[in-house]
Amino acid sequence: MVIISSCTASTLKDAAASLRSGNLVAFPTETVYGLGVDATNKDAVAHLYHVKGRPSDHPLIVHISSMSNLHKWAREIPEYAIKLARTFWPGPMTLILRRTNLAKDFITGNQDSVGIRVPSHRLASALLTEFEGQGGLGVAAPSANRFGKVSPTTANDVFEELFGYLLPTDLILDGGPCQIGVESTIINCTQDNPEILRPGAISATMISDLVGLQVTQIATGSNKLEIKAPGLLQSHYAPRAKVFISTKPNLGDGFIALSDISTPPGAIRLVSPKDTKEYARHLYQALRLADTKQLPNVIVIPPTGDDLAIAICDRLEKCAYKS
Ligand code: TXA
Ligand code: MG
Repeated sequence: MVIISSCTASTLKDAAASLRSGNLVAFPTETVYGLGVDATNKDAVAHLYHVKGRPSDHPLIVHISSMSNLHKWAREIPEYAIKLARTFWPGPMTLILRRTNLAKDFITGNQDSVGIRVPSHRLASALLTEFEGQGGLGVAAPSANRFGKVSPTTANDVFEELFGYLLPTDLILDGGPCQIGVESTIINCTQDNPEILRPGAISATMISDLVGLQVTQIATGSNKLEIKAPGLLQSHYAPRAKVFISTKPNLGDGFIALSDISTPPGAIRLVSPKDTKEYARHLYQALRLADTKQLPNVIVIPPTGDDLAIAICDRLEKCAYKS
């Protein structure tokens, strides 16, 4: 597998062609790095599931370059979903919509819906545009980590996660560190009101203010997203170190908190973000650092608030150690 660190128009053209031939291409998005594959190529998708170590009936998000391709993948799109798409795409939002025949069972995990996202990262956008220019219809891309592990936010993280699994023909595009740092907001748009399945940078308030509807939020810890793999929920977003929320650290434990909270004696500070945005951007790096330092435990003091703090708390609750 090759890492391409300075992407030019010609390397993007080659990367798109590589996707068209059934290879995997990891690429940056504004949220986390994705592991891309031609969403219509069944064999290539099977290779992707193998590389991720993901149960084959767990659905993937299809990435497209613009809203104009939405109708190829989705049907019976409610008015509020169109509004959301017009306002927050390109950006950190995934819409779950009723699928067309193009979205096969091997993408949707046999469900009658499909997840669609238009990312805003310059490289992701350029890759998708080039891919579509070469006749492609959509790039399915889960986060580029092994199943249940921490999502990668740099090309090097992708390499470390997947080098043992990718083939020599697969590529990693390096677009620098991801700016948001936690995965997209997933909104179920198959019912009368929008329902947040995974919180992210597009918050419930932003959604309800825009569409004027009540937005429901799936309870943290619910296994609705994991219908296909309920038992694996507790290992989600998890580093090797055990993550504890707001407990007192012991000597040699890692410690993650906003910069205005001082490090308890004996704890090893992993990051000191000054606000919630910075917290989200650096959280996964800090969890990875705990593993690099071979720390047994990490104590995390979550931020509070109703914006990205909700997404951070959701990921922390999912990766927290459950005895
Ligand atoms: O920010 C993101 O969304 C990143 C970047 C790469 O785009 N992608 C990402 O993909 O986080 P992944 O596969 O790691 O997480 C997508 C989640 C999964 O939990 C999956 O179950 C859910 O989206 N999902 C996908 N399609 C779905 C569907 N049709 N119905 C319900 N959930 C769906
Ligand atoms: Mg993921």
